[in-house]
Amino acid sequence: MRIKIATAHEIPEGQGRLFEAEDKKIVIHNVAGTFYASEGTCPHQGAPLDDAFMQGTQMTCRLHGWEFDLETGACSLIPGVTLEVYPVSVEEGDIYITLE
Ligand code: FES
Repeated sequence: MRIKIATAHEIPEGQGRLFEAEDKKIVIHNVAGTFYASEGTCPHQGAPLDDAFMQGTQMTCRLHGWEFDLETGACSLIPGVTLEVYPVSVEEGDIYITLE
């Protein structure tokens, strides 16, 4: 299912914003002009991820420091833990994500 979730101007470069779609919290990060979508809360203890520390596509949860790759969802600290990530497309300034 493809959903329009935001407009590009809502998410300045280097920042993340939390949205809701289909009863899910979803965070969109703008990494150097490329948008990434993932679960909006940390799979550890549910901290919101819109204000996570960012280094490229590496996202670090502010609460206890779990790190996730926004391209794959893989957690580099805890093998086997994965953050759900969603395909993103941008058309005429609108951001779309695809949920299964
Ligand atoms: S809630 Fe994110 S690392 Fe603990």
